[in-house]
Amino acid sequence: MNPHPASGHAHGHHSTDLDWEALATHLETNGELHLPLLRRAADRLRTALGPAADVRRVLDVGSGPGVMTCVFAETFPDAEAVAVDGTPALLDRALVRAGRLGLGGRVTVRHAELPGDLDGGPGTADLVWSSKAVHHLGDQQGALDGLARALRPGGLCAGAAGGLPTRFLPRDPGLGRPGLQARLDAAQEDWFATMRAELPGSVRVVEDWPAMLRRAGLTGVGAFTLLLDLPAPLDEPARAHLRAHLTRLRDTVGDFLDAEDRAALDVLVDPEAPGGILRRPDAFLLSATTVFTGVRPTR
Ligand SMILES: C[S@@+](CC[C@H](N)C(=O)[O-])C[C@H]1O[C@@H](n2cnc3c(N)ncnc32)[C@H](O)[C@@H]1O
Repeated sequence: MNPHPASGHAHGHHSTDLDWEALATHLETNGELHLPLLRRAADRLRTALGPAADVRRVLDVGSGPGVMTCVFAETFPDAEAVAVDGTPALLDRALVRAGRLGLGGRVTVRHAELPGDLDGGPGTADLVWSSKAVHHLGDQQGALDGLARALRPGGLCAGAAGGLPTRFLPRDPGLGRPGLQARLDAAQEDWFATMRAELPGSVRVVEDWPAMLRRAGLTGVGAFTLLLDLPAPLDEPARAHLRAHLTRLRDTVGDFLDAEDRAALDVLVDPEAPGGILRRPDAFLLSATTVFTGVRPTR
C-alpha cells in the first residue's frame, strides 16, 4: 500500500513533513505484506538481466527498512545488496532484518542524502532499484540521472513509481456516502501535490517515467505491472497495518474531507466497532505496482 501521506503530526494541520524514522514499522509491515509482489519483481529483473549476467552489486535507493534489499540478496546469491537511504534508523533496521534472515554478510547499508553520492561511485552497480523514493526528491529527473550514472554499462535500472491506488474497502462500505475510498485517494493526491511543491528545489515534470528514463540515457525502456491481491477476509497483520494507515490518513488529510467522511474514518479505526477495519469481514487488499526499467548502454 502506498504509505503516503504518513506524517504523525497533529490533526488539523496539512503538514507535509515526513518523519521517516517514525514510519519504520509501517514501512516494514507494508513491505512484508507486499513480499509476494516484491519477489516476483526481483525474479522479473533477474530474467531481464539475462541468465549469463554476473550480478555482484545491487543498490536499493531509498530503501527504507530494507525489505526489498533483502529480497535482492535472496534473489542474487552472489551479490552484495546495498540499502541506500537518508534515514539512519531505517538502515539500522535493514541490517537487523538481514541478520534475522541469515543474509547478514551480503546486505550492507549506505547513509546518503539524495540526490548525492550513491554507494560505490559511478558505474559499479549491476542493478539499481528505487521504489517510492524518487517522488520525494525535488528534481525527479536529476535523481533518475543519478541512478543511471551508478550503473555499469549493460546494468539495469528499475523504478517502482506508478500503479494504482491501493483499495481495501468495497465501493459502499456502509459508512456515510458510497465512494469513500475514492475520496480518500483524491485527498491523498492533494496532499501529495502539496508535499511535492514544498520539497527543496521542487521541479514539476510530466511523470512520463519511460521518457524520463530515456532522458537519463537509458535504452530498452519498458514497464511491467504486478498485482497484490489479498481477498477478504484479511488476516490480523494486514488489518492492523490498514488501521495504522487509516489513523494516519485521519491525522494528515482529515482537513481535506467533509464531516461525514471524517466520521466514517473514526468508525474504521475504532477497534471495537463492527464496521471498523479490524473487525469488518469485507476488508481486502488490492494493489498494483508498475516497475519501469531501462538499460545503461554498453557504448
Ligand atoms: C516511501 S519510503 C520508500 C521505502 C521503500 N523503498 C519502499 O518502497 O517501501 C521513502 C524512503 O526514501 C527515503 N528518503 C526520502 N527522501 C530522501 C532523501 N532526500 N535522501 C535519502 N533518502 C530519502 C526515506 O528515508 C524513506 O526510507
